[in-house]
Amino acid sequence: MKVLDSKLMKSYARMAMDGFNQGWHERNGGNLSYRMKAEEVEALKDDFKEGEWRVIGWQKGDESAFPGLGGEFFMVSGSGKYFRNIELDPEDNVCIIELNEEGNRYRIVWGLVGGGMPTSELPTHLANLEVLKARDPEMRVVYHCHPGNTIALTFVLPLDSRVFTREIFEMVTECAVVFPEGIGIVPWVICGGREIGELTAEIMKKQDVAVWAHHGAFCCGHDFDLAFGLMHTVEKAAEVLVKVMAISPNKMNTITPDMFRALNEPFGIHINEDFLYEKRGTRIGQLPEDVRKEATEKTVRQLQETAGSVVEQLLGTAGSVLSQLRELKKGDAAAEDAEEEELISEEIFIEEGDEEGSFCEAPMSEEAAAEEPAAEEAAEETTETNIEIEG
Ligand code: 13P
Ligand code: ZN
Repeated sequence: MKVLDSKLMKSYARMAMDGFNQGWHERNGGNLSYRMKAEEVEALKDDFKEGEWRVIGWQKGDESAFPGLGGEFFMVSGSGKYFRNIELDPEDNVCIIELNEEGNRYRIVWGLVGGGMPTSELPTHLANLEVLKARDPEMRVVYHCHPGNTIALTFVLPLDSRVFTREIFEMVTECAVVFPEGIGIVPWVICGGREIGELTAEIMKKQDVAVWAHHGAFCCGHDFDLAFGLMHTVEKAAEVLVKVMAISPNKMNTITPDMFRALNEPFGIHINEDFLYEKRGTRIGQLPEDVRKEATEKTVRQLQETAGSVVEQLLGTAGSVLSQLRELKKGDAAAEDAEEEELISEEIFIEEGDEEGSFCEAPMSEEAAAEEPAAEEAAEETTETNIEIEG
């Protein structure tokens, strides 16, 4: 079967278009990957070509390997390609890649006919698909997009998974049912790099959604419907929260922890208790008491450490000033001793001279000593000359 005629390609393109229609894919924003089932590979492999094996690098010179995915095939969006064009021309905007057995090389077996590479987030997708496969072998879709309301909240809510999740949970009852494990938060880090991939993969060990601060969101699902539906639910709740916050920083009414707990039994879920902390007052975005306490203690510890190191530095400086003063004092004492010794030796000289009955004068300098006999000789010579003239 031709890839273009497959149900897989159609579902993939539909999800891309759905995301675009939501406004989550400006320009080339976002990327989508799907780990293919063995029967899908089997049905489409006659349409595959054999591309060149390439290194999988997070960024230049940073190779990576995903042995847990060795030998698997993935449908992936192209880097720099626009989601709005995927449905129109899948073969130019999407590719199917194969991973080698070691999971450290890939080759394009279909698509990107006009040239190009898989998404720059390919290593991040693979890192997450690897973690997700280990968590649940039926997890196949990883989706990254730029949903406006979710991104907006990363500027005004604490970047804390518990606070972010709780505020989103309170906006739409369905949230806690759709993702009872809540939302993970990745602070701002460079996209396409190892750090963003690894931080997100850590979240995906337990949770289905990660928010990338000031950038976008990342989620997973068994299939395209579930992955899109999950993102749609998060972004809808984020939209309501943005509206509420535009009206007031406080809520007059809301869903309480006990109301959330009441959802567990009828929906057969277990909402993570971490998100059901007690709140003080009605202000949106307040930290849970234990997090606030921990943050305060951390600040106090940091201040104490800073104060300690300032005192240490001051003591160090005072110590060195003191030792310099001591050295100076020692120097003064040595100079005084030398002066005293000089005086004593002068006194001894005077006394010794007196004993020998010679007159008191300073010892003659070497130059003066050298000049003296010459003067005597000259005087003698003059006398001789005078004698000669007289003669
Ligand atoms: P790509 O075009 O390489 O997929 O990058 C888009 C994006 O959103 C990066 O985070
Ligand atoms: Zn992005």
